Amino acid sequence: MLDSVQPPLRNFWYLALAGRELPRGKTRATTLLGDPVLLCRGADGGVFALRDICPHRGIPLSHGKFDGREVECCYHGWRFGADGHCTAIPSLTPDQDLAVERIRCGAYPCREVQGNIWVYMAEKAARLPQSSLEGLPPVPELPGFGDAAPQVAIAQVFDCDADTAAFGLMDPTHAAFVHTSWWWKKNARKLRQKEKHFEPAPLGWRMKRHALPPQNRVYHLLGKGVTTEISYALPGLRIELIEGDRHRAAGLTAITPLGDSRTMVHQALYWTLPWAAPLRPLARYLANVFLTQDRRVVDMQQQGLAHNPSLMLIDDADTQAKWFYRLKREWLRAAEEGRPFENPVKPCTLRWRS
Ligand code: FES
Ligand SMILES: [Fe+2]
Repeated sequence: MLDSVQPPLRNFWYLALAGRELPRGKTRATTLLGDPVLLCRGADGGVFALRDICPHRGIPLSHGKFDGREVECCYHGWRFGADGHCTAIPSLTPDQDLAVERIRCGAYPCREVQGNIWVYMAEKAARLPQSSLEGLPPVPELPGFGDAAPQVAIAQVFDCDADTAAFGLMDPTHAAFVHTSWWWKKNARKLRQKEKHFEPAPLGWRMKRHALPPQNRVYHLLGKGVTTEISYALPGLRIELIEGDRHRAAGLTAITPLGDSRTMVHQALYWTLPWAAPLRPLARYLANVFLTQDRRVVDMQQQGLAHNPSLMLIDDADTQAKWFYRLKREWLRAAEEGRPFENPVKPCTLRWRS
């Protein structure tokens, strides 16, 4: 039987936006875990994130103006800097000594890494953190790609909770039924038995590196002996690293809860093939086709879930979904008990037909 949906985990970095979606001197309003967040890119190119509510009278700061340095509220012109402190209140007369700098809208730790903007969502009860990055865990990074931005970055909003969206990432048996196209797996329903080896990985697990089937031509672009390794980590990350003897490619999928029943699924593709830039539009198109297929099936699923049915997770097809729940539970319990997280996943082999 499936557990009921759990709230999204706090104290994690969440992918908020692809960096190239936020030009210099611009802002972008979003919600992360239900919090209104204003993403800003200063005139200097740096990014920061403010709580998108004016502490004066509550209007979202996103209705105001941004001069590339400070955000000005549209209602009475209070101004806020990158660290979330108020810098000016226009109505004050020279003899009124209100401590302007002690007023804060709040700022979230925010970093741009490998072309993606990440925001750290701390515990709700805790005071909003300063934008300082001290003591925070590192932002998830793809090894072997330096600080390169993704070749392709797409995102779609799924009308479901984050767990439901995350399951799609770790569900190895839906592809034959959902991801069918004339150009991909024509005979998708000819199922073959699969056997994959798994091991624990930091805050998750990993499908051990294995060879990709040589009949899949597109992988030949990376050279000979192409292998892949797929890892999954809390709070909802999937990282696939594909390597040949000449080049490598990677896919990052990040699940970002916007609210209780709205989830952004981000997908970023990286590759080291220097001549493959013209393939970007095609890769973007295909990535969107895949993600749309996942989104549509979730939409249909919501029609059933509205009736609150009891659900099942079966072995071994859904074993990874079970791990995901167990990891979440263990992570929360460890935090509650003030002890280190103990990864409950043990090395094992899973079998299914897909
Ligand atoms: S509500 Fe923002 S300045 Fe008054
Ligand atoms: Fe899928």
